[in-house]
Order: sequence, then structure tokens, then C-alpha cells
Amino acid sequence: MQNEQRYLTFALGKGRLADQTLALLERIGITCEEIKDKHTRKLIFTNEDLRLRFFLAKGPDVPTYVEYGAADIGVVGADTILEEQRRVFEVLDLGFGKCRMCVCGPASAKELLLHHEMIRVASKYPVIARNYFYNQKHQTVDIIKLNGSVELGPIVGLSDVIVDIVETGSTLKENGLEVLEEICPLSARMIVNQVSMQMESERIKKLIYRLREAVEGQS
Ligand code: PRP
Repeated sequence: MQNEQRYLTFALGKGRLADQTLALLERIGITCEEIKDKHTRKLIFTNEDLRLRFFLAKGPDVPTYVEYGAADIGVVGADTILEEQRRVFEVLDLGFGKCRMCVCGPASAKELLLHHEMIRVASKYPVIARNYFYNQKHQTVDIIKLNGSVELGPIVGLSDVIVDIVETGSTLKENGLEVLEEICPLSARMIVNQVSMQMESERIKKLIYRLREAVEGQS
């Protein structure tokens, strides 16, 4: 008999996060062989037996696909979830991709943070930066959006500090910068479309349960 069950679609943030997600899914018996072919130009990958589909997307687009229901489930960094502010359910911390969102700069910028001075903040994450400075610290700042290599900001005089991800800290160190304040810890998270969570409740809850067991088993 033909399998009439509807596909559950996963949107995975491209790169290391997707590789780690696929490795975790494999541990609970969910495999997708064709996605492993690094030379393929295909965009959608299917596991017919389990009625699952996978696609890779740019990280910031993952919550968008999930909010609109183009994907039922997404895996993306907590930084992206906080920045994109999409209406999705965040259901599981996958425990990898651990890093921190921090205010960083030269040691000399510490003073500027202490006295709530009007400073310039460069970041790839303007929403997170705004939320931190305006709502948590109650400090009025000028936020400048950049798209990468944010550490350049204080070095070339564009900004006083940056709000950025720190993982090992080596990018900061090599550029004479340091963590000045920690905003929040980050890691990979699983998100679910709000309608899918109701319509496919049983399948999705079972998946979350098995993934949680696998994550807890490795920590
Ligand atoms: C991220 C982040 C930092 C760096 C932190 O950049 O923006 O620059 O990694 O890692 P570390 O603490 O281990 O040195 P990414 O490599 O994603 O590129 P980008 O600078 O273009 O954003």
C-alpha cells in the first residue's frame, strides 16, 4: 500500500550546524543519504520511508520558512531566533554550537559602558544589540548594522564596541579586543511551526522526545 502520510519538512541552517543536526538525527535512526553528497546541486532531499524532507537554507532564513509553514521544523542558532523574532515555537536545545553573545571591544571601552555614555555599537545583530542596550541596560546607543567581520568596527574607528558571537575568543584576541559584557549563552535550537505543532502533534512530539533523549545521553 502506498504511504499517504504527509511529509514533515525540516529546514536546516547551512554549514556545521546542519552537519551536526544530521549526525544527531542519525543517532535516532533518521537518515538521509542523498543530502551527504557534497557535490549535489539538489535543494530538497527526501527520506521516502519516514516521509521526511530536508532542505538547507541560510541561517537567518530558517525561522522565516518555519513561521510560514514552508518547513514544519527548523534547526538554527539561538542568535538567529532572537534576531529574527519570528512566530515559531522553540522546543529543544540541541546542545551543540555552543557560544556566547557578548559586547566586545578594546579594554579602554569598559569605561564607556559603566557610565552609560552615548556610544556606537556595530553588530550583525541589531535587534539583539538594541534590546540589550535599550531594554536591559537602559543605555541609549547608536547601532550600526554590519554583515560580517564585525571585529573591524572598533579597530578602524567605526564603533566603540561590537555585539557579536564569541566561541573560542581567538578572533577577539588576535585583534586586540576582549569580552566586556556577556549578553546570553547560545546554542543550536529546534523550532517548530505553530500550526504543525497542533496538526502533526504526535509525530513531532515523538521526535522531540527521542532527540531530547539523544541530546541528554551525550552530555
Ligand atoms: C563568528 C563571529 C566571530 C567569530 C567568533 O564569525 O562573528 O567573528 O565567529 O569565533 P571565535 O570566538 O571562535 O574566534 P564568522 O566566522 O561566523 O564570520 P563573520 O565574521 O563573517 O560573521
